[in-house]
Amino acid sequence: MSSPAVVILLGPPGAGKGTQARMLEEDFGLVQLSTGDLLRAAVARGTEAGQAARAVMDAGGLVSDNIVLAILKDRMAEPDVAKGVVLDGFPRTAGQAEALDVLLASSGQKVTAAISLEVDDAAMVERIAGRYTCATCGEGYHDTFKQPAHAGTCDKCGGHAFKRRADDKAETVRARLEAYHAQTAPLIAYYHAQGVLDRVNAMGAIGDIRKELGRALGKVSA
Ligand code: AP5
Repeated sequence: MSSPAVVILLGPPGAGKGTQARMLEEDFGLVQLSTGDLLRAAVARGTEAGQAARAVMDAGGLVSDNIVLAILKDRMAEPDVAKGVVLDGFPRTAGQAEALDVLLASSGQKVTAAISLEVDDAAMVERIAGRYTCATCGEGYHDTFKQPAHAGTCDKCGGHAFKRRADDKAETVRARLEAYHAQTAPLIAYYHAQGVLDRVNAMGAIGDIRKELGRALGKVSA
């Protein structure tokens, strides 16, 4: 893939954006940039942005574009981004998508590929309810679909502490799904109109979806 690439993963909560973004880091040398992770870090640090975002995230709504864009721009200014990025959970509104285009254009860049991970909403609650991550490195796991090779030990960093997210309760997941369909799903048409959209069936096995993404990104780099 020509560098620096800007790859967007679109999809509802539980579609596997974070799982596949981490694999794209390994497969293509991209840097995963998750606005959810950046916001959770701001909440944990108790910054002004984090304090404003907390209640919205707990309720399953979308944090305001102003807050998200400020956090995203700061992160995009860091040097590792020159390797190319996979945007996980951003953009999520038309305003964010337009602001990203403006930001990229200021450095002569544009979106390389936007991949829509297509899933059944009904399966997403199960996926999210079983999710947990390594408290040390953030590697993602699932009670049923992706357990560590050795129980209680992270495959990636060897850590032994794991955590679950506060917004992974069933009622909050339903609100997050509603927010996705109302505000984020229209971006599929936005990127289709730009000629950079690819759709991937994300209901299969994690490894198969990884291969499918590899094929999709190999195609755009040709
Ligand atoms: P965010 O952190 O982005 O969460 P999300 O979009 O709701 O997505 P998730 O992280 O829940 O799911 P995922 O698609 O990454 O799936 P995962 O790979 O973990 O956002 C959280 C909140 O922050 C938002 O609600 C909002 O308030 C705020 N926010 C963030 N960005 C924002 C923005 N740009 N604007 C405004 N507000 C913003 O997979 C889920 C589980 O399933 C895992 O356990 C995984 O192991 C498993 N799994 C993955 N793939 C498969 C598969 N193929 N088969 C079986 N299991 C699988």
